[in-house]
Amino acid sequence: MEKVSMSRKTALIFFLVFLISFAAFLYQAWSQTNEECIGCHEDKSLAKKSASGEEISLFVDQKEFARSVHKKINCIDCHADLKGIKEFPHKETLMKVECKGCHEKEYSTYTQSVHGKAFLKGDKNLPTCATCHGKHYILCATDPECSTSPIKQIKVCTKCHEDRKIVAKYNLPGVDFIKSYEKSIHGRAIAEKGLVVSAVCSDCHGSHEIKPIDDPGSLKNKVNIPAVCSKCHKSVYAEYSQSIHGQAIAKGIMDSPVCTDCHGEHTIAASSDPTSKVSPKNIPKTCSRCHADVKLTEKYGIPGARYQTYLDSYHGMASKFGETIVANCASCHGFHGILPSSDPRSLINKANLPETCGKCHPGATKKFALGKIHVEATKESSLGKYYVRQFYIWFISILVVCFVSYVGLEMYGYLRGRK
Ligand code: HEC
Ligand code: HEC
Ligand code: HEC
Ligand code: HEC
Ligand code: HEC
Ligand code: HEC
Ligand code: HEC
Ligand code: HEC
Ligand code: HEC
Ligand code: HEC
Ligand code: HEC
Repeated sequence: MEKVSMSRKTALIFFLVFLISFAAFLYQAWSQTNEECIGCHEDKSLAKKSASGEEISLFVDQKEFARSVHKKINCIDCHADLKGIKEFPHKETLMKVECKGCHEKEYSTYTQSVHGKAFLKGDKNLPTCATCHGKHYILCATDPECSTSPIKQIKVCTKCHEDRKIVAKYNLPGVDFIKSYEKSIHGRAIAEKGLVVSAVCSDCHGSHEIKPIDDPGSLKNKVNIPAVCSKCHKSVYAEYSQSIHGQAIAKGIMDSPVCTDCHGEHTIAASSDPTSKVSPKNIPKTCSRCHADVKLTEKYGIPGARYQTYLDSYHGMASKFGETIVANCASCHGFHGILPSSDPRSLINKANLPETCGKCHPGATKKFALGKIHVEATKESSLGKYYVRQFYIWFISILVVCFVSYVGLEMYGYLRGRK
């Protein structure tokens, strides 16, 4: 019995030794491939000429490679056609590297995108995995030095989207349209404050899933925009989706505004910035693009001529002269939570007017807010104003006619007198 167990132990030990040396052999074989490649490719002067005569360096920096996310994988995992080769030098031209074997999800999303679809049709101007991520020194997305990190990716995208030749060839939106992002509150928050939670290209457009402009999922389709902004502006979105505008969009009324109708796209600025579409001075124009549009206001049966009636009001007059503390559309209507006056929650509901006007007219009473604020003087809306206006129109017209006739008669008399 003793003997048998001894020999079993020895067998076990032999087996273990065998296993360990086999593993060591495998490891050796594995690491040797990298070693072999490096043997030639750590030479800084190693280079070849491309078809177009350009010099391409074949140097791969091991220190940089060791910092990359792929440090644990082998050269031949990517350069797959060199797998198993023993004899060097290897053939001159190798297959293109495919990333899809290990990143299937990203690959299949990419093939549905505006970039991927066109690339697969053979168009070489379109970015592939390595165009955006690089080849050997890809860092983790959370590393600020990574080419697709919020700070760095802007350079990656603008390399093509601010290239006038590419823009013209594909009829893409102009270079200035893209450039304006850099001056926007989002662009400046990144560049000047290093605020990585600000919005960069991929936050709004996506990275691998960027849709062609005619796809229903593209940002060209307004419906998709509030959800994009709400990733970061949750409370604004909550208020907006309750408003008349948000409700209308949810019902599919595309004439109603989404975030970018009031704020712009690549030009978004804080309201304190005088160039902002929502600065106190510019708000009336921003709202009136729709609310002074006769077709639109008639279509929805809402009071029209909002710009003119506002300009004619005491607040509008003052605003025209550059007074910014005066009331603009948003001071009375709010902005994200706008509701019709018939809604009891509306800032312009009769019951709420004393408070709304009271922000600037302390002690405003119901009576103070009684008069119509800005109405088109039609017979129905305000009889007094209507008749006063009609009187002026007729009075002034008759006066002008009399004056012209008088001058005419005078001239006639003068000419006759001379004869
Ligand atoms: C004996 C030296 C040597 C070894 C070992 C070596 N290479 Fe090369 N490699 C070269 C040379 C030289 C070229 C340029 C060939 C030419 O003139 O086109 C090259 C070119 C390449 C290219 C560019 C091919 C192309 O299509 O442009 C890749 C990729 C490459 N090597 C990868 C590897 C990998 C991976 C290994 C390890 C499995 C390896 N090499 C091992 C010498 C070597
Ligand atoms: C994550 C995948 C990946 C790994 C790992 C990888 N490469 Fe590459 N390599 C690429 C890509 C992508 C290219 C660009 C050409 C292409 O698309 O085929 C490239 C190109 C090259 C070239 C041609 C010169 C150039 O920069 O375009 C050489 C030489 C090369 N690789 C050597 C190596 C060596 C040596 C290793 C191992 C230390 C290695 N590669 C590991 C992806 C990889
Ligand atoms: C147009 C540029 C672009 C192209 C092309 C591209 N990527 Fe990306 N990729 C990005 C950006 C930007 C991010 C960071 C996304 C983020 O943080 O939301 C990213 C992130 C990633 C990540 C990290 C995980 C993730 O999904 O966020 C992986 C892995 C990745 N890409 C692989 C690939 C592969 C594989 C391909 C080719 C099939 C590819 N990428 C093509 C821009 C690109
Ligand atoms: C042999 C498999 C393999 C191939 C081929 C490969 N990768 Fe990877 N890649 C990985 C692994 C594994 C990781 C994760 C590393 C980690 O989490 O530490 C990774 C990570 C990444 C990341 C970082 C993801 C993050 O969360 O930040 C990017 C980006 C990436 N790969 C891009 C590429 C690109 C581009 C190519 C083609 C040029 C490629 N990969 C080819 C295996 C591969
Ligand atoms: C290598 C050049 C290149 C890079 C890098 C690149 N793009 Fe593009 N992009 C293009 C081209 C070319 C088109 C037009 C494709 C077409 O119309 O078939 C396009 C289309 C688009 C479109 C759709 C435009 C439209 O009118 O349909 C968007 C959005 C877009 N890219 C955003 C990005 C973002 C965001 C990045 C960075 C993460 C980026 N691109 C990186 C070349 C590039
Ligand atoms: C705050 C969100 C946001 C950011 C950040 C952003 N965009 Fe846009 N982008 C939009 C919106 C919204 C549109 C307009 C869609 C429309 O109505 O045509 C647009 C339009 C585009 C278009 C025209 C194609 C299209 O879908 O209409 C391109 C190309 C583009 N952006 C590229 C970029 C690039 C490159 C960056 C980074 C430098 C970037 N964008 C940053 C929101 C953004
Ligand atoms: C009807 C026009 C309009 C629409 C639609 C709109 N906004 Fe605004 N927004 C404004 C105005 C006006 C201001 C400036 C108010 C002020 O400070 O005087 C503003 C201010 C802001 C501010 C800064 C102040 C704050 O409340 O945080 C953010 C952020 C903002 N909007 C995001 C959004 C987002 C996200 C959406 C879409 C879900 C959106 N807006 C839809 C008009 C609009
Ligand atoms: C990835 C997150 C993110 C996304 C997506 C995003 N924003 Fe922002 N936004 C920010 C941050 C962070 C700031 C604050 C920047 C600062 O303070 O410098 C900001 C600031 C703003 C401001 C100025 C607020 C003020 O102080 O007056 C407006 C307006 C705004 N965003 C609108 C939008 C709109 C509209 C969209 C969608 C098209 C959008 N944002 C998408 C993160 C985001
Ligand atoms: C892109 C066009 C557009 C812009 C910009 C816009 N609106 Fe509107 N607004 C509409 C449409 C369309 C409706 C009608 C929605 C419905 O009835 O379903 C509406 C409804 C309203 C109503 C309710 C009218 C009623 O009697 O039901 C008020 C009040 C209003 N908007 C005020 C504003 C103010 C204030 C601004 C600027 C801060 C503004 N709107 C910007 C298109 C716009
Ligand atoms: C001083 C406050 C004030 C200002 C400024 C103001 N409004 Fe009004 N608005 C009202 C009140 C109050 C009503 C309700 C009807 C009335 O009494 O005239 C109203 C009615 C409306 C209506 C009809 C909605 C309804 O439910 O009756 C629209 C649309 C509208 N305003 C848009 C605008 C636009 C666009 C601007 C800027 C160009 C603007 N308003 C500026 C106070 C104001
Ligand atoms: C954002 C502040 C603000 C709000 C809100 C506001 N007003 Fe005014 N209002 C002013 C200022 C400032 C003037 C002085 C304009 C000038 O310089 O002529 C003024 C002038 C007036 C005048 C002219 C007579 C006077 O007292 O100077 C009347 C009437 C008036 N507002 C009524 C209203 C009513 C009614 C409301 C509510 C529906 C309202 N205002 C909301 C700021 C505001």
